[in-house]
Amino acid sequence: MIMLLFLLLFKLIPANCLDSVQGRIVGGYTPSPNSIKYIVSIQSSKGQHFCGGCLVHKSWVLTAAHCNIGMDQMMLVAGDYTLGVFEGTEQYSKPLSLVPHPQYNRSTNNADIMLIKLSAPIELNRYVSLAPLPKQNAGLLAGRVCRVSGWGSTSHSGGLKPLILRTVKLPIVSTSRCNSSNSFSGNITTNMICAGSNTGGKDACKGDSGGPLVCDGRVYGLVSWGNGCGDPRFPGVYTAVSRFRRWIDQTIYSTFSRCLKSAGLFSREV
Ligand code: ARG
Repeated sequence: MIMLLFLLLFKLIPANCLDSVQGRIVGGYTPSPNSIKYIVSIQSSKGQHFCGGCLVHKSWVLTAAHCNIGMDQMMLVAGDYTLGVFEGTEQYSKPLSLVPHPQYNRSTNNADIMLIKLSAPIELNRYVSLAPLPKQNAGLLAGRVCRVSGWGSTSHSGGLKPLILRTVKLPIVSTSRCNSSNSFSGNITTNMICAGSNTGGKDACKGDSGGPLVCDGRVYGLVSWGNGCGDPRFPGVYTAVSRFRRWIDQTIYSTFSRCLKSAGLFSREV
């Protein structure tokens, strides 16, 4: 019965949509289901995916500050794989509060990072786990191969949106090369890192924003901005998470301790 339903679903999906699911644009492929367990889909109240994020604590999601469309409009989904299909592994939570970085600048994209406190904690299980983060100011050498994942567009024109999670491996590009006059001409700050292949064709794109760039098993980058997608002259630009490790810990911990205090749970220790 379920098999029949799936078959029917596949028959109903137009061929051009399947192209976008399987397409090689921006160089990606689909990882096996629920193998990237910390990735979160951020959706509008109408269920439209618009940004990625990652779970860094059972009650906190890390994403880009430019994904802030207002708390009331946002729904967070952990354990997802195919958008729009209930697979039984999904966990949903509304935000309780949004903490965009105080230095976030929407015109320069500097400090494009935000923490979202969830209204209900996510249960960690076979499909959902926490993302490991780098130490404060940990650096990456150019050429280090990382992986970026998301449900964003598979075409540079930004039109096609896949339903199944995709991932692509990319090398880190040095900030000096990324800042050169034939690339981003000095617009890359110390709070950003660049990643992209020399020959182009592998990149994050629209809708991947806020999603994780993972190197050595840690989230070193958040999809932030770019110029087109997959252009060899313009690598993808990511928020340098290691620059914000202290802020992340302070934000999560200070709210946590404040809540504990207000609940009177600290009284015996003090
Ligand atoms: N700002 C885009 C978003 O909101 C992400 C762009 C990333 N672009 C790139 N070429 N890597 O989804």
